[in-house]
Amino acid sequence: MCGIVAFNGLNDAEERIIQGLEKLEYRGYDSAGIAIIEDDKLQVVKAAGRLEALTDKLKDRPLKGTVGIGHTRWATHGVPTETNAHPHVSSDGRVAVVHNGIIENFQAIKDDLSEKGYTFYSDTDTEVVANLIASKFQGDLRKAVEDSINDVVGTFSLAVLSVDDPDKLIVTRRESPLILGICDDGVFAASDVPALLAYTRDVIYLNNDDIVEIDKDSYHIYNHGNPVQRDVQTVEWSLESAGKEGYDHYMIKEIFEQPKAIKDCLRRKVTDGFIDLKDQSFTKEEIEAFDHIYISACGTAFHASQVGKRALEDALQREITADIASEFRYNMPFLNENSLLIVVSQSGETGDTLAVLREAKLRGAKVLAITNVVGSSVDRESDKVMYCDAGPEISVASTKAYSTQLLSLYLLALDFGYKLGTYGREDVKMAIEEFESIPGKIEEILEDIDTLDPIAERLAKHPAVFYLGRGIDYLSAKEGALKLKEISYIHAQSMPAGELKHGSIALIEEGIPVVTIITQSPLVEKSISNIKEVKARGAYTIAITDEISTQFSDLSDAVIRVPAISDLYAPILAVLPQQVLAYKVSVLLGNDVDKPRNLAKSVTVE
Ligand code: F6R
Repeated sequence: MCGIVAFNGLNDAEERIIQGLEKLEYRGYDSAGIAIIEDDKLQVVKAAGRLEALTDKLKDRPLKGTVGIGHTRWATHGVPTETNAHPHVSSDGRVAVVHNGIIENFQAIKDDLSEKGYTFYSDTDTEVVANLIASKFQGDLRKAVEDSINDVVGTFSLAVLSVDDPDKLIVTRRESPLILGICDDGVFAASDVPALLAYTRDVIYLNNDDIVEIDKDSYHIYNHGNPVQRDVQTVEWSLESAGKEGYDHYMIKEIFEQPKAIKDCLRRKVTDGFIDLKDQSFTKEEIEAFDHIYISACGTAFHASQVGKRALEDALQREITADIASEFRYNMPFLNENSLLIVVSQSGETGDTLAVLREAKLRGAKVLAITNVVGSSVDRESDKVMYCDAGPEISVASTKAYSTQLLSLYLLALDFGYKLGTYGREDVKMAIEEFESIPGKIEEILEDIDTLDPIAERLAKHPAVFYLGRGIDYLSAKEGALKLKEISYIHAQSMPAGELKHGSIALIEEGIPVVTIITQSPLVEKSISNIKEVKARGAYTIAITDEISTQFSDLSDAVIRVPAISDLYAPILAVLPQQVLAYKVSVLLGNDVDKPRNLAKSVTVE
């Protein structure tokens, strides 16, 4: 996720900004840059790759000045290059901006500014903001920023410098975090607390649409033109825990980031409550021309793909093939130039997934990628790309990437179904309304996670756990079992509930935990029979369900309720308690939650 550090005060800004950016490195980034006002001139230095690439350049040419802005970029618009790195400067060279967030209407603003003679050099939405502010400037930088954010739709935290007001730093935010750090020798603005801790613990958390005018020896906060006061608070966190924003591990932080990730994922794919994939998808004619559609991925991304297959089959009313990339790469005899291959990959660098993609391209097929990493190999080599917009996922166990992969696949299915006429306007609107309700429903589940403690204690004591489900619930069970095994090292076996009696039921013995997912209305009775089967053999039964029937309480030793949603979309909620349970078990067992044994975040080898 991008990081912002800005400073205005009495001492050297470069040193303060670079140390702040170093403290934000944990968030993940792919390029970095800094702008300082030196002798009333704007000096900008940027580099693709690690921060060292930037600091190496600064060694040759240190920047002297006491007001500046810095940024580490996690690419969202345009690949990670020096040109796309922040700060971005207006084409008249007068305004420099760093930005976190997404400007949804950047294309419309860009078209308008192009007509007025502004020029654009990067692929980013941020450069549009620099030019917009320059176009509004009439002697008052704060006013120009205020007028500009009135025109902007989307999320942002911004830090702005201008040679026309060289002693001033302006910062503002909407939905994207930004805090002030108050020091004896100046004021910081940063996207995250760790950037400030070496210099101060006195911080101000800004509200949406606050605009702060920071001078050398004072700062003033405004909201919609009116002066406002915000309390200074003292940060108690250690530097270590501040990196995780107070959470003990990245995994649980990322679990809690899912409401935001879902909102960000929707933002780029929905306009005014309607599906709007723009150039991320194919035309009606192109979709009709595909003789077969394949989906391929690995691990968690494959579990999302299997749900995506169901969604696409519903949308297209024809069979779709989903296969594990490490298998499919050696067994794809029918994939040809008339096929569409959809690949799903958080990292965009998974070796097996890339091998499938490359073979498909060699055969002349079209490839659509769903990935979280802009500029990754999967991104660069595919014909069409949908970004998950989950932000960097640091914990090895995938959580927010899975839920945004699911959502991206649902949105793709909706787009295809609408274009082909399976779904009408009302169907699409209703589906989008359901998607927009997901962040609130996830928050509801997360409010209650302490109730999972006794269940986690039970799971942690047993060497094996079963996960059952029918239909789409089986796909949710697969993801739940994978989460548990990878971070708890407990043997977790998922299976279609009806398959149990064909052999594996022999393993059910007194006390063995069996988690059953029950969200698919037509299959509820069948799943209940399966719970009875294992209960009769002494299993400790846990039901995860959105059904309100009391039958579950009578039958199950523990019932975990999730909010109701259409059957097809249920996995995006059913996975939440399963992620949290796996996390809690791993903590109870004292494992290295974020870096489990034998696993790597990105599996680039075969
Ligand atoms: C499990 C997990 C892995 C990945 C798999 C694919 O929590 O993270 O199963 O899902 O290695 O990785 P990507 O999505 O990067 O292709």
